[in-house]
Amino acid sequence: MFHERSCGRVYNPVMKVPPTIRWVGNASAGHLELLDQTQLPTVVAYLQFTEVSPLVEAIRRLVVRGAPAIGIAAGYGCVLGVSRGHEHGLQPSEALAQAAQALNASRPTAVNLAWALERMRRVKPINPERLLREAMAIHEEDAGLCREIGEHGLGLLREMFPDRGEPERPLRLLTHCNAGALATGGCGTATALIYAAAESGLAVEVFASETRPLWQGARLTAWELNQAGIQTTVVCDNMVGALMAAGHVDAVIVGADRIAANGDVANKIGTYGLAVIAKHHSVPMFVAAPYSTFDRKIESGRTIPIEQRDPLEVTRPASHWIAAPQTPAWNPAFDVTPAALIHALITDQGTVQPVSGENIKSILAAAPHGARD
Ligand code: MRU
Repeated sequence: MFHERSCGRVYNPVMKVPPTIRWVGNASAGHLELLDQTQLPTVVAYLQFTEVSPLVEAIRRLVVRGAPAIGIAAGYGCVLGVSRGHEHGLQPSEALAQAAQALNASRPTAVNLAWALERMRRVKPINPERLLREAMAIHEEDAGLCREIGEHGLGLLREMFPDRGEPERPLRLLTHCNAGALATGGCGTATALIYAAAESGLAVEVFASETRPLWQGARLTAWELNQAGIQTTVVCDNMVGALMAAGHVDAVIVGADRIAANGDVANKIGTYGLAVIAKHHSVPMFVAAPYSTFDRKIESGRTIPIEQRDPLEVTRPASHWIAAPQTPAWNPAFDVTPAALIHALITDQGTVQPVSGENIKSILAAAPHGARD
């Protein structure tokens, strides 16, 4: 039986996926549980964490993934670090510093990780109770940010597609990777719009590109949305051009791992190609992300660190060789989409359109300050 996770007043009955991250017990003796996303959709199972090192390894393996969820998990990881620190002969401040350093090195591209860790590092006094309060605050705040993104995105969809949303003319959205409930503390970023649209009575149809090499689109997004009753069709990544050429897509909506000051967006590998194809077909491309995904210290996408992953993910997926052993493979986990290809950024603070450094600055002026300001 899945826990029905509420996304709040706007579209609460829709989401039906189990919680991605949960803390069990009190601050000093409790533990962290992560829904093991590597096993979805066939197995729904949780892994327990009482120490930082296995958590770091789990983040690397994508047991938990998606920029906001990684940040939330890292917040709880700091609680583990300090609550177990004395067993390793560490003072609380040393334990926190070591935990934060190890967690920060787990994945380099999603800036939400550094942002959450910076918040945890600022907690005073350093004790498990106070740290757990902050980790929970980050978690709960993220659910609210998702809700805000959904409301702003829904407004934009209604404005741009006034003639779509009836059952005979559904709004047709294409998404890539999983920027869903599974990737956040709430109802997702890209999917927040989708859930909001469905909840407000708009007829929506979704295409999920499968997202090679690790299939977050096929395994996670299609599973998540179909459970919510939102008709979601999987397409191979190399079908999206044909899909758009056939006129089946009204808009593309994706999440982000890091957004530079000029609006360039790092997101799952394949997003850039999608954006180029969308531009060619005059299909608007939207990027949905909370303020915690903006890195105002990085001027443009050129300097966003891009995670390189094991070539075996490409040549031997699911332990099955699809290329001859020893075949070299290039495996960047993310790419950068230039701001010029993005129709609008949809944030918890409002929409940025056109996408420019100036407009980002003014939309985020009222946002809480993050690690990267
Ligand atoms: O490698 P992953 O699965 O962590 O990549 C996730 C993405 O690229 C998401 O689109 C992004 O983190 C936004 S999640 C709301």
